[in-house]
Amino acid sequence: MDVHNTPNFPRKRGSAGMLRFGIATWVVGLVLIGFAGTPSDKPAGKPSGTLPPLQVDPKTAPRLEEGPSEPPRSKKTTKKRADNSACYVCHGNYEGEELAQVHAEGNVGCVDCHGPSLGHRNAEDHLTPPDKMYPAEAIDPACQACHATHDAPAKKVLARWRQKCPQKTEPEQLTCTDCHGYHRLARREILWDKRTGKLLSSKPASDAQTNQ
Ligand code: HEC
Ligand code: HEC
Ligand code: HEC
Ligand code: HEC
Repeated sequence: MDVHNTPNFPRKRGSAGMLRFGIATWVVGLVLIGFAGTPSDKPAGKPSGTLPPLQVDPKTAPRLEEGPSEPPRSKKTTKKRADNSACYVCHGNYEGEELAQVHAEGNVGCVDCHGPSLGHRNAEDHLTPPDKMYPAEAIDPACQACHATHDAPAKKVLARWRQKCPQKTEPEQLTCTDCHGYHRLARREILWDKRTGKLLSSKPASDAQTNQ
């Protein structure tokens, strides 16, 4: 059927109907604006009653049944990237760290996970802790707030476990950050109790407890 010339289109609101509706609206947009702009980000709304009658040459019109089923991926590149520069001043090592970067790319910055931490950033003596720290038992629930499911093949997960944290022998011991990223510091100069923020030690690096 020629959806463009069907009165009262769309008739159906099933998925196929929606798909054709979306693309047809897009085609209308192209015709009306003469390709001057990009397709609207807004979901396909009802065509306004004031639109002029639609004229589409069936020979040049795109074949609707072959249209994309979801918005173009290129939208991703216009996404906002989190600005972590206030933290890189002292934590430059995280500028190339996987967990921090994959999240910065998704506009989740250090401050989204650790809080704005203004006192911590501005403390001359570095003894004020950041707003939010993560003792081991708090890690998984924090990640799962945004990642409710884990869509990864068991084989890959086991391989990663073996590769990154073979010292842990029971699955219950694993946290998300054992397998994802290299987010921990090998050496700590200043240690706080991650639950209370109480300062535990501020020895020079050589004397500090190693982390883990
Ligand atoms: C003026 C320097 C400075 C700035 C700026 C700074 N930090 Fe820190 N941060 C430190 C120091 C020093 C430590 C202790 C590191 C160590 O033990 O070697 C630390 C430790 C941390 C820790 C570890 C806490 C834990 O679990 O024990 C977190 C988290 C942290 N900073 C987050 C941030 C975030 C988020 C920002 C940006 C909003 C930030 N920091 C900006 C100096 C800074
Ligand atoms: C505030 C929400 C939020 C929190 C909390 C969060 N994430 Fe994410 N995560 C995201 C977003 C947004 C992305 C960007 C990629 C995407 O769109 O899935 C992402 C991406 C990832 C990816 C890459 C996914 C891929 O497809 O390759 C991994 C792995 C990941 N997160 C692990 C974690 C871990 C581990 C934690 C806990 C330390 C965590 N996330 C906490 C929002 C979050
Ligand atoms: C034993 C290792 C291991 C642990 C623990 C682990 N993951 Fe993964 N995860 C993986 C592997 C391997 C993949 C697949 C990555 C790939 O295909 O490159 C993956 C994929 C992901 C992805 C991308 C796929 C998706 O589902 O979107 C996210 C997000 C993620 N993990 C988050 C988490 C979170 C959150 C936790 C903690 C609750 C966690 N992971 C714990 C190994 C692990
Ligand atoms: C998706 C949430 C998330 C983001 C984004 C994130 N962190 Fe973290 N961060 C965590 C979690 C969870 C831990 C605890 C990890 C662990 O102990 O395995 C942690 C631990 C740390 C630690 C302590 C490491 C240690 O050895 O104890 C520092 C320092 C830190 N983060 C700094 C940063 C900085 C700087 C950024 C931004 C560049 C950042 N984090 C971004 C969740 C996040």
